Amino acid sequence: MQIKLVLVFTAVLFQLGNAHGGVHVISELTDPAFLLAGAVVAEDAVVYIAGNGVAAVNVSNPTQPELLVSLRHPLLFGCGGLHIYRSADEGNLRLAVTCSSTDTLMLIDVENPRELKVLGTISDFVVLSRAADVVVKGNLAFVAVPGAASVVSFDITSEASPVHLSSIKLSGADSVSLLDDAHLVVASERGRRVSTLSFSPHGVLFKIGSIKDERFDGVISILKHGTLYLDFTFVISAANGGTFAVLNTTSQSRPSIVTAMQASVRLARPAATLKNEGKYDELGVSYIDAGWAPYGHKSILGATGMVLIENLIYIVGNTAGTISVMDVSDPSKPRIIRELNDARLIGAANICAANYDQESISLDGVLQILVAAVPSTGKLVLLKDTVERLSIQSAEL
Ligand SMILES: *[C@@H]1O[C@H](CO)[C@@H](O)[C@H](O)[C@H]1NC(C)=O
Ligand SMILES: *[C@@H]1O[C@H](CO)[C@@H](O)[C@H](O)[C@H]1NC(C)=O
Repeated sequence: MQIKLVLVFTAVLFQLGNAHGGVHVISELTDPAFLLAGAVVAEDAVVYIAGNGVAAVNVSNPTQPELLVSLRHPLLFGCGGLHIYRSADEGNLRLAVTCSSTDTLMLIDVENPRELKVLGTISDFVVLSRAADVVVKGNLAFVAVPGAASVVSFDITSEASPVHLSSIKLSGADSVSLLDDAHLVVASERGRRVSTLSFSPHGVLFKIGSIKDERFDGVISILKHGTLYLDFTFVISAANGGTFAVLNTTSQSRPSIVTAMQASVRLARPAATLKNEGKYDELGVSYIDAGWAPYGHKSILGATGMVLIENLIYIVGNTAGTISVMDVSDPSKPRIIRELNDARLIGAANICAANYDQESISLDGVLQILVAAVPSTGKLVLLKDTVERLSIQSAEL
């Protein structure tokens, strides 16, 4: 007698980081509150949007996002800087907002996202001229001020009345991010420069290093994750159609570019010549399938915003409405592993990632819910990034 043992097992593999799966739009929410939205951030399943006002949206069920509240205020106009933090004393949830049209820094209590409360504001057409961006560390707020080409520090111990501490003049200051507990990284669009600053516990700022490069030309956004990527700072700019650069900021006094990728192709011959020869393909060639290359990444055309989740950076491009999923496991060799092109994302200003109720969307393998703000249409676009869930059934022994 022959005994046959049949063993069937199912292995579920999440193919993280490979080319399967995809990014898709799952819902949209339109509201006048999102018109001119300049910034989005998320805390858990609540997304905050700043533009002309500040709005809160519950994305717990991402197929049915719900507008919780829309805060209007005479000083909330042209707001493009947003930082979420916990107050130094009691750990309550706060938003710091900067508004370029009103030269304002505002602190908002968002402990209850259904009821946003203005705690304190400071407006100053000299010190905060066209205030563009803000980060908070403990009792200190740091604001990038393009109109004064400076970074300005404030003591926010008393939330009702922030106190101006110190300013430092640079070639320009359009966005700011925390490098670590005592340093900032600042981008200047006009100066084509990324600078590193140190700050004392009293908010006194010192310039310690900088790097100037053509690839920092135009609107720049910087991203730093001190715990995941200690040594690196990520930058996107408008240069060359859209540029993604990785900086080595280990040495704060001597930041350097590790690598950069751009949307434009490097043409063997002038564009007009290629067009005359009917070689349109060579104008728009994408190197994605060919592995890593610095040129021709059309999906980062018009890069305006990015968000980092573990080893992935999602970059939104506003020209054609694209999302590029960049794998930065090896930061010196970033790779675009997935991309989406969707007309609903044309004009998108920024992107953030939110937590969600796993059971509200039944699809398996959802990696992340992303929320992009499209200021021109007053729209929030919700997307999911899915990884293919492979089921392998076998085997006979
Ligand atoms: C968000 O929506 C979920 C249900 O989809 C609900 O359980 C939760 O309480 C809501 N959060 C807020 C802050 O309203
Ligand atoms: C980063 O820079 C430091 C010196 O500033 C150097 O020792 C290190 O090897 C660099 N890392 C990379 C990945 O380039």
